[in-house]
Amino acid sequence: MKFRVILTTLLMLAAASFGAHAQDIEAGKKKAEACVACHGTNGNSPSGAFPTIAGQNARYIYLQLRDYKEGRRKNPMMSPIAAGLEKQDMHDLAAYFASQKQARTSFKADPDRIKAGAAKAEESLCSMCHLGGMAGQNEVPRLAGQHPEYIVTQLKNFKARERTNDAGNMTSLAQTLSEEDITNLSHWIHSLF
Ligand code: HEC
Ligand code: HEC
Repeated sequence: MKFRVILTTLLMLAAASFGAHAQDIEAGKKKAEACVACHGTNGNSPSGAFPTIAGQNARYIYLQLRDYKEGRRKNPMMSPIAAGLEKQDMHDLAAYFASQKQARTSFKADPDRIKAGAAKAEESLCSMCHLGGMAGQNEVPRLAGQHPEYIVTQLKNFKARERTNDAGNMTSLAQTLSEEDITNLSHWIHSLF
């Protein structure tokens, strides 16, 4: 008898959380209208000044929005936007953008830079955290196909310790990368999608 009650409760909880997840994406779609101007339709940004967030990991998106809001990551465009978001908004937006299909950008990567970038990535063990093909997982961002200009900006920001919300993973590693390495890595990363 007791077991049946527990089982029923568990099933109800499972159904409720499944329902809530579907709603998150719908609610997120509506809230995402505030993001289109910079991140493009569906999160496929039209410019390297703005990261593509379509197909990014939900956990990573949520944590970045929280970091902007709480001041651990700073940017004159994103900080004021995140300041106006509640926790539920961040979860909804993360669920929505994670569910969107990433599109290829028109950037033409240089074959020599791709090769040099691949070698540097292997030496630096990038895939240890970002996984093979830089596909990302949970709080480790997906990088494959990202705008090279954005990748370069972030690696330089880590190196200069202007971006420090990475628990030390990227700021220390970035010290070992030259400007040339950074450009090469950005071409290689772009070529992975
Ligand atoms: C005015 C332009 C602008 C608008 C509007 C905007 N963003 Fe951004 N967003 C940026 C810029 C620029 C960056 C990169 C900032 C940096 O270097 O930290 C960014 C970064 C991000 C990141 C981090 C991505 C990564 O790969 O680390 C997320 C997540 C994000 N934005 C989500 C959103 C969401 C959700 C909205 C709508 C609620 C939104 N943005 C609206 C300009 C904008
Ligand atoms: C020890 C684990 C680890 C290794 C190794 C690592 N990364 Fe990262 N990387 C992370 C984490 C975690 C983040 C997210 C940090 C945050 O939350 O702000 C990140 C973020 C990034 C970002 C920012 C992405 C964005 O959307 O803003 C870039 C670019 C990046 N890594 C490139 C690389 C490259 C290139 C290498 C190899 C040279 C590498 N990473 C190796 C853990 C790692």
